[in-house]
Amino acid sequence: MASDSYIALVERFPEHLSDAKSLGSDVKISGVDKIVFTGVGGSAIAGSLLQIYCSEKTQTVQFFVSRNYDVPSFVDKSTLVVAISYSGNTEETLSAVKAAMKRSARIVIVTSGGKLMQQAEQLKKPVVALPEGIQPRAALPYLFIPMLNVLHNSGFIPDPSSEVSSTITSLQAASTNYRERANSLAQKLVGKVPLIYASDRLAGVAYRWKTQFNENAKIHAFSHVFPELNHNELVGYTKLNANYYVIMLEDAADSRRIKERARLTKEIIGRKGVPSTQIVIKGEHFLTRLLSAVHIGDLTSVYLAKLTGVDPEPVTIIEDFKKQLGRVPFV
Ligand code: F6R
Repeated sequence: MASDSYIALVERFPEHLSDAKSLGSDVKISGVDKIVFTGVGGSAIAGSLLQIYCSEKTQTVQFFVSRNYDVPSFVDKSTLVVAISYSGNTEETLSAVKAAMKRSARIVIVTSGGKLMQQAEQLKKPVVALPEGIQPRAALPYLFIPMLNVLHNSGFIPDPSSEVSSTITSLQAASTNYRERANSLAQKLVGKVPLIYASDRLAGVAYRWKTQFNENAKIHAFSHVFPELNHNELVGYTKLNANYYVIMLEDAADSRRIKERARLTKEIIGRKGVPSTQIVIKGEHFLTRLLSAVHIGDLTSVYLAKLTGVDPEPVTIIEDFKKQLGRVPFV
C-alpha cells in the first residue's frame, strides 16, 4: 500500500538526521545580530525548532520565525534571513526573499530546488541544497540539522555535533518503544479531535503535532500552551462541543510551576470526562528531547492515518489550493 512506504519513511527519521549531518558545513555568515527563519507549513516548522533550540543555546543573537509574504519590520543589513522552502516554489517564501533583499539583509536559502534555487543562483546567495522527492513535512531532518551546522560555523551557537550524534543514537535505541507508544496513542485518538498542550517554550513542538495530525491523518487538531491556556481554553471544557483528546507534552526542563499547571489541568479536564495522555519527554540533551517529542508526534499521526484508512502522504487539497491561487494574478 502507498501509505506503508510513507510510514516507513517517517519511521526512518533518525536515519535522516544522520544523513543530514554533513549538509550545510560549507556555509558561513558573519556580521549579523538577529536571525529570521522565513517559510510556511512543513518548512517553517524547521525554523520554529531552530528558534527553540538556538534560543536555549545562546543569548547573543536573537532568533525569530516569520510565516508570511513580508519580513518583520526590524530586518536590516545586520539580519540574517534564512529562507526555508523544501519545494522552492512557495510564493510566500519567494516574496519574503525579495523583501529581505530590499532591506539589504544577509540571506541563506534552504531548498531542494524550484524557483528559490534559481533565485539563489542568480543572486549568488549561499544555499543548503536538500535531497529531492520527499514531502516537505517529512524532510524535517534535512531542513533542520544542516542549519545547525551553518549557525555553528558562523559562531552563533556552540558545536552541536556531539548532541546530534547522541540524539541519533538515542532515537535509534528507542525506536521500538516510540513506535509502540505512538501506536497505542493513535488507537485512542480514532474519532477524536486532538488538543496538544505544551509549555510556551515548546510551542513549536505542540504546533508540529497539530500540523502532522492535519496533514498526515487529515483531521482537525489544535495546539495551545501553558500558562496561557489556563486563561481561556480551559473554560471551553465547561460546554464541550466535540469529542476531544488531550495530549500533554512535558519537558524535564519545564519550570515546576508549569508542571504544576499541567497536573492540575489534567485533573480538571479528567473530571469533565475528557481523556488525556501525558508524554514526559526524556533525554540527557535538549536536542534529544526536542526531536524525540517531534518524532513520537510524527509516528502517532501516520499510525492514526493507517488506522482510519487514510493515505498519510498526499496533501491534494493543499496542492489544489496552490494551483487555484496560482491562477490569480499576483499583484
Ligand atoms: C507538505 C507540507 C506543506 C508545505 C507547504 C509549503 O508536506 O508540509 O505544509 O510545507 O505547503 O511548501 P514548501 O515547504 O515546499 O515551501
